[in-house]
Amino acid sequence: MKQKIAIITPVPAMIESVIENSMIRKAVNNGILDVHIVNPRDFTKGSYRQIDDTPFGGGPGMVMMAEPLFKAIDFVIEKFSGEDGMRILYPSPQGIPWSQDTATENKDIEKIVIICGHYKGVDQRVIDKYVTHEYSMGDFVLSCGEIPAMMIVDSIVRLLPGVLNDINSSKTDTFSSKLLDSPHYTQPREINGLQVPEILLSGNHAKIKSWKKKVQLETTKLKRPDIWKKYLNNKSELKDE
Ligand SMILES: C[S@@+](CC[C@H](N)C(=O)[O-])C[C@H]1O[C@@H](n2cnc3c(N)ncnc32)[C@H](O)[C@@H]1O
Repeated sequence: MKQKIAIITPVPAMIESVIENSMIRKAVNNGILDVHIVNPRDFTKGSYRQIDDTPFGGGPGMVMMAEPLFKAIDFVIEKFSGEDGMRILYPSPQGIPWSQDTATENKDIEKIVIICGHYKGVDQRVIDKYVTHEYSMGDFVLSCGEIPAMMIVDSIVRLLPGVLNDINSSKTDTFSSKLLDSPHYTQPREINGLQVPEILLSGNHAKIKSWKKKVQLETTKLKRPDIWKKYLNNKSELKDE
């Protein structure tokens, strides 16, 4: 399956610059992924190409209008030959947390549309009519949806076979292995008196593997007690089965 992703954005240059300078370009060049950038301003009337207006009921800020977004989404649905196998994502601080698990789940979705919000966000009727999944990048507010959209795409794409030089690299990353990753070192062996741990130079692969696991356990317990707790719970559930 070749994954297709459409990003609906009034600022295509933001998306293009990330694509050009990231793994996403490699995925597209290798025929693993199709990316389409759709500008809602192309679906407006008038020379001002208006996509935002003042909120009903008053209050500060502008709201992205429903009509240009309806038309842009319908355009993508037609381009992707229908809604079968499609998810329409809206990055929003009100969504469920984006995580390694949601990235892994979305890598198997054939057609993904991502709507980038601006200003106070999008007219609620866009969410009610089209959005299948709302995802938050964390408990903070960004000024636009392009950065979350690229976080979503990058975290999915690096899990697709043929993108990373070695797919096993993503399998040993933090979260994929259910623990934090172990520390990494490269040349030189010594810098400013700081040494590479002796065990990594030993050539003994079994010992290196068990050292890495030990450090993963220690750092997870220390740095992320929440992940450590989950890890222990999963382990005891597996034992009970
Ligand atoms: C200024 S924000 C709007 C925030 C909205 N008024 C609220 O308080 O829920 C503009 C856009 O940035 C994006 N955004 C901001 N913070 C985000 C987050 N934590 N996760 C995902 N998207 C976010 C969304 O697409 C949003 O529509």
